[in-house]
Amino acid sequence: MSALYERPPSPSSGLRLHLNENTAGCSPRVLAAMRAVTREQAGFYPDYETAHERVARHFGVVSGEVLLTNGLDEGIHGAGYGWLQRGEAGGEREAVIVEPAFDMYAAATTAASGRAVRIAPRPGFDFPLEEVLGAMTPATRVVYLTSPNNPTGLSIPHEAIARIADALPREGVVFLDEAYVDFGGRTVLGTPAMRPNVMVGRTFAKAYGLAAVRLGAVIGSRTVIDRVREVTPPYSVNVFALAALAAALDDEEYVAWYGGEVRQSRELTYAFCERHGLEYWRSDANFVLFRVGPHAPALAADVAARGIHVRDRSSQPGCEGCLRLTTGIVAHTEAALAALEASW
Ligand SMILES: Cc1ncc(COP(=O)(O)O)c(C=O)c1O
Repeated sequence: MSALYERPPSPSSGLRLHLNENTAGCSPRVLAAMRAVTREQAGFYPDYETAHERVARHFGVVSGEVLLTNGLDEGIHGAGYGWLQRGEAGGEREAVIVEPAFDMYAAATTAASGRAVRIAPRPGFDFPLEEVLGAMTPATRVVYLTSPNNPTGLSIPHEAIARIADALPREGVVFLDEAYVDFGGRTVLGTPAMRPNVMVGRTFAKAYGLAAVRLGAVIGSRTVIDRVREVTPPYSVNVFALAALAAALDDEEYVAWYGGEVRQSRELTYAFCERHGLEYWRSDANFVLFRVGPHAPALAADVAARGIHVRDRSSQPGCEGCLRLTTGIVAHTEAALAALEASW
């Protein structure tokens, strides 16, 4: 299987509900903060110290336990380079990936010359704990987990995360991708499941609407974070992203408002699925996956012709015949569901 990230086409027009983006964009206060960046600030290498202290407070850790990254994607690569490429010489190093999974885990594994060990989904996407434990070997260096998962929206029980962390070889790390946790999942941060060999990945792309600004973070014990730091360029987060960060964290109302839209949009989508007798999964994220059947590609194309982009996920394991719809702004969800209805 290819380990390339499948970059979806970027439509030139229409409503983008195919990439789990925040279609409201960022808070106006964030934009004002980026506009206030001075010529001198743009001319100097960025100073991260204050930003690291601010983001550490937000995540309830100390500054050395968090590293800002150029989007969470960079953190995913950091886990790959830090654990799959480095370490004792010789032997194959493996990353365990639980399908259906975000493409970047396999891409990062291949980039770091690791071998991807893929775990097939269970029917209904129950978390395959026994299968993950069974796939781990002395060569396992990274276990990529996503909670809530993309594309199912399902969260992983904390006990399962802890069991995996406890079973890892001494040299390994659990990379727990919490890109969508702001929408209703339960973070592992500050809980007993946050073992010293667990690294949490977060992004400001989704709830904060900063996907184009590229801002993410990895959080974990000092030892773990230092290891990512060693393989991350010193200035990969730019001055606009740093200005955006403080303003974004200060505007809690904005994130709460978007979260409210997401919750309503999910309910509208579930109601649509129930009206049509479709299988769907109750999501902790800002998207919903539902199974429309073999005409999923044709339906997605038809809806796109009506100016709404949804993602056909049929090619992902377990997702045959499934569409994934971003469930953010209520008016956007209503437009998408109307287009789906018209194309049915
Ligand atoms: C599970 C998951 N992790 C990470 C990312 C990437 O986050 P970022 O935009 O911060 O690189 C995405 C983006 O869609 C995602 O779905």
